[in-house]
Amino acid sequence: MKRFIDLAENTPEELAELLALAGRLDRHPEPQALTGKVLGMLFFNPSLRTVASFQAAMGRLGGSSFVITPGAGTWKLEARNGIVMDGDAAEHIREAVPVLASYADVLGIRAFAGGIDLEADLEERKFMEMASICPAPLVNLESAVNHPCQALGDWKTMDDLEVPASGGRFVLSWANHPHALPLAVPAAVVHMAAMRGMDVTVLRPEGYALPDPIMQRARDAAARSGGSVRETDDRKEATEGAHVIYAKSWGSTSHYGRPADDRNLRSNLEHWTVDESWFDNALAEAIFMHCLPVRRNVVVADEVLDGPRSRVLPQARNRMTVQAAILHRLLLGGGR
Ligand code: CP
Repeated sequence: MKRFIDLAENTPEELAELLALAGRLDRHPEPQALTGKVLGMLFFNPSLRTVASFQAAMGRLGGSSFVITPGAGTWKLEARNGIVMDGDAAEHIREAVPVLASYADVLGIRAFAGGIDLEADLEERKFMEMASICPAPLVNLESAVNHPCQALGDWKTMDDLEVPASGGRFVLSWANHPHALPLAVPAAVVHMAAMRGMDVTVLRPEGYALPDPIMQRARDAAARSGGSVRETDDRKEATEGAHVIYAKSWGSTSHYGRPADDRNLRSNLEHWTVDESWFDNALAEAIFMHCLPVRRNVVVADEVLDGPRSRVLPQARNRMTVQAAILHRLLLGGGR
């Protein structure tokens, strides 16, 4: 494995090996496996889990890490090409990325969507430009429309809980939020559940359909795995017999790049706060998932987050377990 930027770059067999390695390293730690190795991480956007879980994973394997947050104690970075850099940014990514990569054995980058040009974000233009100038193995710490480490951790969480793959009913539900959030987690999660062979339903209000390329990618994955993908705005129908309800908010694609219009559209959607009633038609043992961070009693009610269905903490812990496997595989090889 030369990089980890998209689950789709890995075969189902390779992902199964990574998940098995994650489980093995969790049960039988290898505290010297990555002695002397360095992970560098470049965060253009905030994080709690990703930064902490990668540092913890690298430390538990005997390696070390550094974190750069441009503009917070380090130079502000410019990402646009061909501009006169007479503003705030003292350095361009074209120098910064290869410089950081030269200090590290593996580099991770978090760069959210620009949120203005949907086509540019769907094509991952910003992230792929940085990938093209990064000579070290690269890990996607969340890009415009992808979050493969979150998706792999969620896959492991469902495996750990023995949620069925074939025949498992997975509902990705839009949820209330004051802001138009990026498409990265919903895109990655719907793709992951389809790759896992599940029957996936995207439940969302009018105006919040996921973009066609995201849905098509998930449908193609489902066609290969034996799963299925559909979308609806009918909560009762969507949640019927569900094994998993995974909540996440995202911005309206019909009002992409126009936050005021998006705010207007979502002003009537405050009843999309997930509470226990959302599970009325689900299986009795249905679980609740969310990638975190989550706004309590806006996105999800306390009764769900604090209740027996919630698996948000095991999800967060599995970020560390799968990332240990990713680092192990990137730096030591093995597998296919
Ligand atoms: N789920 C996730 O990526 O969390 P952070 O944004 O805190 O890293």
